[in-house]
Amino acid sequence: MQEAPDPLIVEGVVEAGDQRGRELGFPTANLSLAGDAIRGDAVWAGLVRLLDEPDSRPWVSAVSVGRRPTFYDRRGPRLLEAHLIDFRGDLYGRPIRVELCRRLRRMRAYGSVEALVHQLGDDVADARGWADAAGLEALQRGRVHVDR
Ligand SMILES: Cc1cc2nc3c(=O)[nH]c(=O)nc-3n(C[C@H](O)[C@H](O)[C@H](O)COP(=O)(O)O)c2cc1C
Repeated sequence: MQEAPDPLIVEGVVEAGDQRGRELGFPTANLSLAGDAIRGDAVWAGLVRLLDEPDSRPWVSAVSVGRRPTFYDRRGPRLLEAHLIDFRGDLYGRPIRVELCRRLRRMRAYGSVEALVHQLGDDVADARGWADAAGLEALQRGRVHVDR
């Protein structure tokens, strides 16, 4: 794993995806990327801020940057896709700011949708693990906190 010296930041308005993410159980907020933005196709742990809710806490996220090689060939569109962990709702048309904080792995083509979905579950677990290790437990909405 490789830690970015400063988080890499992408801002934009969420675009319509293929809606496949919802079917797979991992909906994503998609941003298109300028040609040379964010070098290398990879999966990251990071934070997403909803810019139209400036007071809200950022969302711990698993973020993919690349061309979705499981579904598209090399001419597929290069996208940033952020899965906001525990977020329920539709972000289409809303401005967000994505910080890529910890590179988790390379983007790759999977032999089946099931294999990709299994990997996405591992990516979410790794992103949660990154947030805990970074002292960001308070941002993890889906956790059950027991006060003793
Ligand atoms: C954390 C994360 C990791 C991903 N990793 C891969 C990958 O390794 N290979 C791949 O082809 N697509 C990967 N994707 C992209 C999915 O294929 C994509 O989100 C899915 O097809 C839904 O696309 P849609 O948002 O356009 O509906 C990843 C997405 C996320 C959120």
